[in-house]
Amino acid sequence: MASVLDLELHDDRTELLGDVVQQQLARWNRERLKPGLPDATWREALGEEQRMRELEGRFLEALRAEVRERAARAPQDACGFVVWFERLAQVGPGQNDPLFPWLAEEANLAEMRWYLEQEAAGEAGFDDLTAYTQVKLPGRIKLELARNYWDEMGRGNAKGMHGPMLQRLVDALRLSPSIDTTVWESLALANAMTAMATRRDYAWHALGALGVIELTAPGRSAAVAAGLKRLGVSAKDRLYFDLHATLDVKHSAAWNAEAIAPAVEEDPRRARAIAEGALMRLTCGARCFERYRHELW
Ligand SMILES: [Fe+2]
Ligand SMILES: [Fe+2]
Repeated sequence: MASVLDLELHDDRTELLGDVVQQQLARWNRERLKPGLPDATWREALGEEQRMRELEGRFLEALRAEVRERAARAPQDACGFVVWFERLAQVGPGQNDPLFPWLAEEANLAEMRWYLEQEAAGEAGFDDLTAYTQVKLPGRIKLELARNYWDEMGRGNAKGMHGPMLQRLVDALRLSPSIDTTVWESLALANAMTAMATRRDYAWHALGALGVIELTAPGRSAAVAAGLKRLGVSAKDRLYFDLHATLDVKHSAAWNAEAIAPAVEEDPRRARAIAEGALMRLTCGARCFERYRHELW
């Protein structure tokens, strides 16, 4: 029989993992991270801030609860941990999802556009997430995040910046990503990434979540790039996906060697946090793929 606690947890999850809460969090993130000007009503706004932070905290706890046991089984020595982490590319939640071969080989343009619109709306910005995460990290780890960030910035060249590169595809396909038309699963993915990167008590979770993106992005990017090419999208417009199909292989190897390994070596307790963050990110992704298939097939 389910205990009262189980039932409460279930109710909480149903509320947190749904349209209303995820749209609220997405709108709040958009507003609070936007550069602004001092506002005379800042004091009154604190009440709303507290309410949203609590909602965000409950959301993160619900995601953690799903992965805690699996993360606790990860090795706590640096070498063993990196092997465990890299295996997530094969055995992690959402890996080898049939959505991707379908996007590569079968989806028509309308279906591909819908998929990309969902993904673009749920894109929290790897560059900004990395920038938030690196605050006060140890030097060696901070340097790796800096090298990755510099690549995100096109190494100082506007044309090579990754964010605007994705925007070029959005413009070319005339997509209009918006919170209202995005499934909650995709909003939840962006909300989870933003929460982990901006909350310092989740800094190691963020390191794991960002690292697992680098680890698993190449396969998905290659499939999307192949689908775009098949549908006649020009090489210039699909560059974001072509680039990430190869660059993230290097990013992943460097992140694991220069950020994850030293983090665990310095404090083995971080292994569990990094593992949880990675599994939380992959679980959010898996839920997106399942929903997308449900909508598209
Ligand atoms: Fe990137
Ligand atoms: Fe990358």
